[in-house]
Amino acid sequence: MLRLRSQLQAKKLPPDLVTLIDTIAIAGKDIAFRLQQGAMSGVLGSAEKENVQGETQKKLDVISNDLLKTYLLESNTVRGIASEEEENIVAGHDHAKYLVAFDPLDGSSNIDINSMIGTIFSILHAPTTETVSQADFLQPGRNQCAAGYILYGPSVMLALTTGNGVQMYTLDQRIGEFLLTTDHVVIGKDTQEFAINMSNQRSWAVPMQNYVNDLLAGSEGPRGKNYNMRWVAAMVADVHRILCRGGLFAYPWDNREPKTPGKLRLMYEANPMGMLVEQAGGSAWTDVGPILDIQPETIHQRVPVILGSINEVTACVGYHKNN
Ligand code: F6P
Repeated sequence: MLRLRSQLQAKKLPPDLVTLIDTIAIAGKDIAFRLQQGAMSGVLGSAEKENVQGETQKKLDVISNDLLKTYLLESNTVRGIASEEEENIVAGHDHAKYLVAFDPLDGSSNIDINSMIGTIFSILHAPTTETVSQADFLQPGRNQCAAGYILYGPSVMLALTTGNGVQMYTLDQRIGEFLLTTDHVVIGKDTQEFAINMSNQRSWAVPMQNYVNDLLAGSEGPRGKNYNMRWVAAMVADVHRILCRGGLFAYPWDNREPKTPGKLRLMYEANPMGMLVEQAGGSAWTDVGPILDIQPETIHQRVPVILGSINEVTACVGYHKNN
């Protein structure tokens, strides 16, 4: 089985991009090690402070952010980083070619129950100007040169796209290397599985309520088939399932915070996952258009997300068009 670095070199990617992806993989191995130590190394529980989103940070959110930040800024390939856990961007090396936006530990409410979590990353081209600013990050998802996630589950896995399909790598703990285990990930066009936090149902907009009601009506309803539901509460794990066996994932707008467009963040959740899903033959939309076409306005911007098997995403978006 091919090692990550050899596989990236075989694709003839720019050497700095290979080094950058390799650096993220090394940070992921370090994070995985801390996670495996769990309660033994005192890393569980709350850090007793809030991030820029007003969410209480877990100790491992802070540790993972510091690790990724240190590895990335020490590599000379990164011009700047934007993290879920940092209010502002952090500048890197002056002449480096890439910007990285990341969520160091997605699904962190799962940390204390020893369930799946992950690191999500999006890589963009850096500007050629002398200084780097927040505005340089505000590029549509279509501009991403690479995107992926590291899933910390029963196996540690890396899902990656550099714009030419999606590959999955599994960490071989004996040799400390990510090895290529799936070369060409394909999401089936149709599905009978959906992922959504049903406890918010009464707060969704009417089209989303109608869509999910029709799924729940099963073979006797207008969709004419029975659906299964799954919700891990970590986007990285729910998207991983969709890359493995198809499905629909949605985190729609809801009226708990009417002025907020959704819960998930565009730059380091929706965009990288959107690129992975599209590269695997699926579709990634808000309720009105493709996620990757959104012109970001701020680095911590939120968006509604509907992604997965193409025909199911089209069906769900259709309810929004017709209402
Ligand atoms: O980043 C936010 C996140 O943890 C996602 O990974 C996940 O899909 C979602 O929130 C879970 O939300 P909820 O708490 O509503 O289940």
